Amino acid sequence: MTRIRLTALALAALTAAAAHAQSDKIKVGLMLPYTGTYAALGTAIENGFKLYVEEQGGKLGGKTIEYFRVDDESDPSKAVENANKLVKRDNVDVLVGTVHSGVAMAMAKVAKDNNTLLIVPNAGADAITGPLCSPNIFRSSFSNWQPAYAMGLVAAERQKHKTAVTITWKYAAGDESVKGFKEGFESKGGKVLKELNVPFPNVEFQALLTEIAATKPEAVYAFFAGGGAVKFVKDYAAAGLKDKIPLYGPGFLTDGTLEAQGAAASGMLTTLHYGDDIATQKNKQFRLAYAKTYKLQPDVYAVQGYDAAQLLAAGIKAAAGDLTKRDAVVKGMEQAKLDSPRGAMTLSKAHNPVQDVYLRQVDGQSNKAISVAVKQLADPARGCKM
Ligand code: BEZ
Repeated sequence: MTRIRLTALALAALTAAAAHAQSDKIKVGLMLPYTGTYAALGTAIENGFKLYVEEQGGKLGGKTIEYFRVDDESDPSKAVENANKLVKRDNVDVLVGTVHSGVAMAMAKVAKDNNTLLIVPNAGADAITGPLCSPNIFRSSFSNWQPAYAMGLVAAERQKHKTAVTITWKYAAGDESVKGFKEGFESKGGKVLKELNVPFPNVEFQALLTEIAATKPEAVYAFFAGGGAVKFVKDYAAAGLKDKIPLYGPGFLTDGTLEAQGAAASGMLTTLHYGDDIATQKNKQFRLAYAKTYKLQPDVYAVQGYDAAQLLAAGIKAAAGDLTKRDAVVKGMEQAKLDSPRGAMTLSKAHNPVQDVYLRQVDGQSNKAISVAVKQLADPARGCKM
């Protein structure tokens, strides 16, 4: 390449960077599932994110927020291409996504390779704040380990179960959720007898429900979410198991799903970093505003979207609106103390929420927090070198 051409290229890059820095807009790339079993989760995250931005007058740190959207279909095989549409084609300042752990891990790699700011508003893949942790990657939700480990403790210590069977979709989130449950349960003397799986996003549970009935564990731990959680909880009750072997899970099993699950979910105990009835001013205000804006009840996914926007706002504010001042953005986000609908939330060194994990019970259409299962639980961040 000639020297003149190189100089022209460098100039073009500088001009683009300057235009970016001076822009009065911040481009947010929402990469979420809008179709498939996790579609409702993606919509709730987007709603929550936009609710916070609207509460700030459509601006964060004085900058207008401009949205770009991609439906990731919860399909890891399309994830790199989808993330690149936002990063390279739309040139977004920040990526926000996604729900599915496999897709989110691919997003984290794209974000690392391009040094793009990424906020994960759901996917719990332990690796994101473990071996893949990075100064430009943040999570406003949970690690798969957090609610699962807490439920393992609850099942053994509070519920006094000695044996359990686990059942999940076979992919990173299900595998890690089962691993976390097993760690908590077996550390208190429980024993996991069998680990059952179906491929994601299959919902043919009949053969495995028959196997659970034949194994006769004292408890069942299940990881499913969205449409799959609705079907599993209903099938479990229809198979006559609900009154024989108590069904537990991380709160995704009953969050955003209760209307469709009806009586099949009544009384179920789950663990999660949110409960519908948390009696803070913030939660009351959030729930009212969300219901008024979207004519829907919010769930944990909406909370995580709302907090992703709060976290971004903290970074933009710390950099006085200039996202090219990456060190200031990162510091602002790292030091953020969020007044979340879930309660107080800070981030660990690996950029994962440190938060109370509640024990919740289904009461009608509500996941009621009946106690704090583990206070201010931090993910162990195994493998994170930051
Ligand atoms: C995940 O893939 O990490 C996930 C999906 C839905 C709910 C919770 C976790």
